[in-house]
Amino acid sequence: MASVAVLTSGGDAPGMNAAIQAVVRVAASRDLDVVGILDGYDGLIDGTSRPLTRRIGGGVSVPVADVDSAGPLGGTILGSSRCPRFHKAEFRAKAAEHLRALDCIGLIVIGGNGSIAGAHAIANEMEIPVVGIPASIDNDIGLTREALGVDTALNTIVEACDRISDTARSHRRAFIVEVMGRDSGYLAMAAAAATAADAVLLPEVSKSFDETVDAVAECIRHSFSSERHKRRTLVIKAEGVGIPTHMLVDEVVAQLEDIDNLEVRGTVLGHLVRGGNSSFRDRLIAGRFGLTAIEALLAGRTDVMVGWNLTDTGEPTSDSFIRLFPIALVLEETQALIDGSSDVIRGRVERMESIQGVLSL
Ligand code: F6P
Repeated sequence: MASVAVLTSGGDAPGMNAAIQAVVRVAASRDLDVVGILDGYDGLIDGTSRPLTRRIGGGVSVPVADVDSAGPLGGTILGSSRCPRFHKAEFRAKAAEHLRALDCIGLIVIGGNGSIAGAHAIANEMEIPVVGIPASIDNDIGLTREALGVDTALNTIVEACDRISDTARSHRRAFIVEVMGRDSGYLAMAAAAATAADAVLLPEVSKSFDETVDAVAECIRHSFSSERHKRRTLVIKAEGVGIPTHMLVDEVVAQLEDIDNLEVRGTVLGHLVRGGNSSFRDRLIAGRFGLTAIEALLAGRTDVMVGWNLTDTGEPTSDSFIRLFPIALVLEETQALIDGSSDVIRGRVERMESIQGVLSL
């Protein structure tokens, strides 16, 4: 029987399990077996895997029990890893050996930009067909409007900021809330727009330490001035802005010493944002990615990623919202997203500023 392998890699993201479930269901419906590689690229190197389908009466392929119930869950039932070993050719050779021994028609890699780069290496060096599914809360993967996990993470951040805003307004306080995103300001930016934050600190807008402190202090001063008389000041700070949140809070407080009874607090949301059951949208996209990824492998495609993309770039699939892109192109656009040179970033910042008047600092 023909089979497909699947792995999840890098930082886990809500929606990864929904994607595994979709891949397995679609594959089983095409009479394929599915093997799950454990713990990302580590499992490929160490040769650890488990079946995700089984054969029942009449030889019909069906998902194993935990796959059937995994769809809503955050995290990944296959386990994940950051895998520095995969950067070394000797370990990639081991991975190739294990992958060939599985004798599958191809591998589906579900993960972030590092994982998609790994998929590119496999496709080129090992001559085994590979299709990528973008999954990372950071939303820093090129050519897909959203990666899996982004919507769930944003719902969590927005809820947390709403809660913080309740208590902030009650006491007339300023809060600096730090959100994950590595080098990408997307989560901070999108959450700032949704919560009508007063300002957002983005790694894509490079400011010096002193400029950042001055700008945040000025924003809080203005917000609590008798003119504005706000009861809450909310500043969302992306993790990628290289100033620790507690240090920023201390510096800002020192600058605003002349304001009576001013309180500035910091909250780092951290890994809280990465967990939790996946949202409706993440589950929906996961299903569509899973379907088109299996279809791509069955059509003999390799070194491509499925992306949620409504432009006419890339190649169409059976789903009008999902297109196929060569991974080399994805990695190019990913780089532009990360260094801020992509038009996509400029457009996002402009929209955020014009909708909510959020200052990007
Ligand atoms: O890439 C997802 C992410 O959550 C980033 O936002 C964050 O910088 C990083 O992973 C944290 O990684 P780890 O859980 O390995 O510390």
